[in-house]
Amino acid sequence: MRSLADYERRAKDHFAPDAWDHVQSGADAGLTLGHNRAQFDALRFMPRMLRDLTGGTTALDLLGHRHAAPILLAPVAYHRLAHPAGEVASIRAATALDTTMVVSTLASITLEEIADCARGAAHELARDLSPLWFQLYFQPDRAHSLELVRRAEAAGYQVLMVTVDAAIKRSEFALPAGVSAANLAAFPRTIQRAQAAGGQIVFGTPLADAAPTWDDIAWLRGQTQLPIVIKGLLSPEDAREAALQGVDGIVVSNHGGRVLDGLITPMAALPAMVAALEGKVPLLLDGGVRRGTDVLKALALGASAVLVGRPQLHALAVAGMPGVAHMLHMLRAEFELAMAQAGCRELSQIGAGLLA
Ligand code: FNR
Repeated sequence: MRSLADYERRAKDHFAPDAWDHVQSGADAGLTLGHNRAQFDALRFMPRMLRDLTGGTTALDLLGHRHAAPILLAPVAYHRLAHPAGEVASIRAATALDTTMVVSTLASITLEEIADCARGAAHELARDLSPLWFQLYFQPDRAHSLELVRRAEAAGYQVLMVTVDAAIKRSEFALPAGVSAANLAAFPRTIQRAQAAGGQIVFGTPLADAAPTWDDIAWLRGQTQLPIVIKGLLSPEDAREAALQGVDGIVVSNHGGRVLDGLITPMAALPAMVAALEGKVPLLLDGGVRRGTDVLKALALGASAVLVGRPQLHALAVAGMPGVAHMLHMLRAEFELAMAQAGCRELSQIGAGLLA
């Protein structure tokens, strides 16, 4: 296993066929899915030579916490589709590699168990606990959303990432026996409402009526002291609105090409969002990040950090906890090498000048 692509190639044999399709697929014709990768491949570096690299580091300060590298694990539902240990294995790997894993609302293990596991692993491995981030999907009932927020606060999560681009999403995938949305076990019918079957009408249904709006962001801002990161914005106008609402971070994302096909890629959307925000709010980016050079390209365009989605499940399926740890290690090592080869000693030296 020498690259993330190696894990991806092997992973197929470790999934049930329908689960594999579910993980890998993009919406409709898969245009957005392909464009996410193509956009990275189209960029070229213009490196600087003969610069001093002593004391080099990939460390990043983000929302009050130090991260070993500008690479996080994106919120991904149901890790137990990939491995019976599920999120327990992934969070142990993330902890071992000083990386933040954003825990999904749709995790297959409860957010409390995952946080406990991170603390246990940090203790066992004699490492600092990586910042704990929880990803919130608004529930049709605000009381349920609030319950998730209070549970995340009580369990020690330090950042809330609110995903806003998948309220209306189409999926035919049926979870296998033994895999479920552990955090939502006590809520009625929420999961069914979060998905539209093929051909189903959307307007006038609870699915559309329950989709969150800016009012819900304002409401959430009033409910919690935790930093709020909105995931799934692509337009500079939305970025400005988020800043006005006191949001602490934004993930520029098209949900890995899984929602609306034909979306602008995050890499194409990023520069206008950077310009709109004038540095007031950090921008993270995901979708198609598979190499250390992709990380460098995203940072060159103004992202503070990137997240990886599917590669977690690939590595988890092939090799469990050590697989995820190895995947993260490779990505970080590739990024560090790319930084050094481009003449950057620290993240602040990575800028638009690095791209031809
Ligand atoms: C996702 N993603 C996602 N996002 C989120 O906010 N909550 C979630 O529960 C999930 N679940 C999920 C499941 C699967 C199988 C995939 C592939 C993706 C989206 C994810 O956070 C991220 O935006 C993309 O995966 C990034 O693209 P790459 O790295 O997979 O190309």
